[in-house]
Parts: sequence; C-alpha cells; structure tokens
Amino acid sequence: MTDLTEKPIKNILVTGGAGFIGSNFIHYILYTEPQAVIINLDALTYAGRPENLAGLPDTSRHIFIHGDIGNQKLVQQIFRKYAIDSVVHFAAESHVDRSIHDPGQFVQTNVMGTYSLLESARQYWLVEKDIPVSEVRFHHISTDEVFGSLSPHDPPFSETTPYAPNSPYAASKAASDHLVRAYWHTYGLPITISNCSNNYGPRQFPEKLIPLMIVNAQSGQPLPVYGDGKQIRDWLYVEDHCQAIHKILQLGKPGETYNIGGNNQPTNLTIVELLCDIIDECLPQSHFLPHKQLIQFVADRPGHDRRYAMDTSKIQRELHWQPQHDLQGGLLRTIEWYLSNSGWVEAISKHGDYQSWLQKNYQGRGSEK
Ligand code: NAD
Ligand code: DAU
Repeated sequence: MTDLTEKPIKNILVTGGAGFIGSNFIHYILYTEPQAVIINLDALTYAGRPENLAGLPDTSRHIFIHGDIGNQKLVQQIFRKYAIDSVVHFAAESHVDRSIHDPGQFVQTNVMGTYSLLESARQYWLVEKDIPVSEVRFHHISTDEVFGSLSPHDPPFSETTPYAPNSPYAASKAASDHLVRAYWHTYGLPITISNCSNNYGPRQFPEKLIPLMIVNAQSGQPLPVYGDGKQIRDWLYVEDHCQAIHKILQLGKPGETYNIGGNNQPTNLTIVELLCDIIDECLPQSHFLPHKQLIQFVADRPGHDRRYAMDTSKIQRELHWQPQHDLQGGLLRTIEWYLSNSGWVEAISKHGDYQSWLQKNYQGRGSEK
C-alpha cells in the first residue's frame, strides 16, 4: 500500500528551465504550488530560450540563474543560498540527431552535469544536513529511450525492463540514470527517476519531429520523414508530463522509478499526416494545400529505434496519474500555439545556428523512396 502523504515543496532547483519541458513545468508549478519558489539554473544553450519564461504567473517566485550544471562550485552555492529542498533535473542535451553528429557534448552535460548536481545535493543534504533528509528530494527526468527498441509484438517497457540504449543520447541518459540510482543505493540520497516517452506541445524547439513539421508546413518547406516512416513513438502532451512529475515530487517513494507515457502509438507517418490535416483546417488560405504534398521520405537516422511503448500501470496505480489529453486535441492545441507565436518561431528560424543545423542534418540526405 503506498503512503499518499504529500511531501512539502518549498525551494525547488529546476535545471534546464528555459528549455521545452522545463519551462512548461515552471509555468505549471507556479500555478499549482502557491508556496513554491523556483530557482531555475540554465546554461541557455541553443535550446534554452529566455522567452519561454515570458508570462509566468508569479515572477517574484522565479529566480533565473544563467549557469552550467557542470559548475559544481556554482551549484553548491545555489543549494546553500536558497536552502534547496527539491531538485527537478531537466537540463540535458536532448536531441538524438545532434548526438549522432556530436556525442561529446552529451557525455559532458548529461553524465558529468548530473554527477555535479548529485555531488552538490549529497554535500548539502547528507553532509551539511541543513534540512531534514525526510524533506528533500532529487527528481531526475529521464526517457524511454534508455530501454532500446521494441519489435512489433513485444510488450511495452516497464520499470523493470533491462536498459539497452542505442543512440549516444540514450546512452548518456542511461549513464545518468545509473548514477542517480547509485547515489540512492550507496549514500541514501532520496531520489526518484521518471522515464517518459516523446513529449509534444508549446515551446518545443523546432528540431524535433512535431514542431519541425508545423514550422515547415506553414512556410511550404519539405516535411522530411526518415526511412519508411513506420517507426512508432508513444506521444504525450507536455502538460500531462508536468502533472506526472508534480505527483512524483509530492507522493513518489524515494528510490523508485516511474514510467510515464501517453498510450498513443501512431507511426511517424500517421503523425505527420494528421498534422497536415489539422494545419489544412487551421490555414484554409494557405498556398500549400494540401500540406501532405510537402512530405518527403529521406534517408533514415543511423541506428534508428523502431518502436517505443510504455507500460504506465505503476504510476496510475500508485500515484493515480493518467494523461488528460488525447492526441487529436493535444496536436490541435500545439498547432494553434505555433501559429499564434510566429515571433517565437522567427527568432529561432532566422538564427544562423538553426540554419546550419538544418543544413548539417538534412542537406544531401537524399530521398528514401
Ligand atoms: P530541451 O533541449 O528543450 O531543453 C534543455 C534545456 O537544458 C535548455 O534550456 C538548455 O539550455 C539547458 N541546458 C543544456 N545544457 C545545460 C547545462 N550544461 N547546464 C544548464 N542547463 C543546460 O530539452 P527537453 O526536451 O525540454 O528535455 C528536458 C529533459 O527531459 C531532458 O533531460 C530530456 O532527456 C528529458 N526528456 C525529454 C523528452 C522529450 O520528448 N522532449 C522525453 C522524455 C525525457
Ligand atoms: O522518447 C523520448 C525522447 O523523444 C526524448 O528522450 C528525446 O529528448 C526527444 O528528442 C525524443 O526523441 P526522438 O528521437 O523520438 O524525437 P524526434 O522528435 O527527434 O523524432 C521523433 C521520430 O520522428 C523519430 O522516429 C525520428 C523521426 N523524425 C524526426 C525528425 C526530426 C523524422 O522522421 N524526421 C525528422 O525530421
């Protein structure tokens, strides 16, 4: 029987809070936890956007610090200065394609950065003992990709599925998960881990499938589908992920891991076609109707995982969480956000870094079919 006593949350260190999920989480938690103060540590890499933090419900409870999670001295100062009792660790290099081009940065941020945070938490919570250990929590945000790839009839990933990461990104996340687990097992650092499937929603950097397709469709650019487009992901609207993290922070048991997913498993091609249909309806005057004509099959991602699926029965059973948004509704909200935030998209699109990434990843990729 799970003890459903809520842990109080006061001073939360959120890492990577200017990125996609981190910024959505900050918006969400400032609404739902009226006492919480958020200290947001973000290095503002290409994926970290200060404008993601515009319109926060209560700016007096959000303190932004521009810095690297790998800077252990800075992280220790933050723990002491703000009496941090909870960590929600999002900061990472998060894009699989970039990890194929440049794996070193993934090891640096995802593995060494996580180590730096763990060491600071251990020092402040277990050595200096400023806060009762029963009141602290280190929550590590991970991914379903650590479990590898499923065949068509395999059962979905559960919390006990053995790790088999296939990309440098997934391997670096797996390494960080193991470190987090080891700090619990060895030192008794109160940790929880969540492994989540593909998120989508507002403020996602347009290098990932869904926002890339929306931005390209709107401007009449090709919609590049890797390989045969029959790969399967389990899609979750980002707000549902934020709610699950909140539940784990409040009610999760130290040392436990929780799988989170959307129970939506279309193929990539189905997702892209669905997006095109919704965009056709949202933009009836578009010069590019029907937007499906923009789909182009391009060379596959090296080592591309074929199928992910999540068994979320543990978090449903123990913490009473389940997703609130269905795929059609979530995609519509997402498209509407991108269409009404053209300034956000333009600031990224006109940046040289973004253009050179598109060239590096797509130019000369050729056609698959
Ligand atoms: P993102 O790439 O949008 O944002 C990452 C953020 O981390 C950025 O704001 C960036 O500036 C910051 N950052 C990077 N390196 C840093 C460093 N050294 N120090 C401080 N800040 C740094 O990522 P996201 O999609 O929001 O993913 C957040 C987390 O969730 C990641 O840990 C990712 O592995 C995990 N995750 C993502 C998904 C998904 O579908 N996006 C699914 C499951 C898990
Ligand atoms: O599963 C969780 C993971 O989901 C997270 O841990 C990662 O941080 C996040 O980036 C995401 O990884 P994916 O590789 O699944 O996401 P991406 O949006 O890059 O790709 C989704 C699928 O679409 C994947 O099968 C590759 C395919 N794809 C992607 C792009 C960018 C295309 O077909 N064409 C594209 O241009």
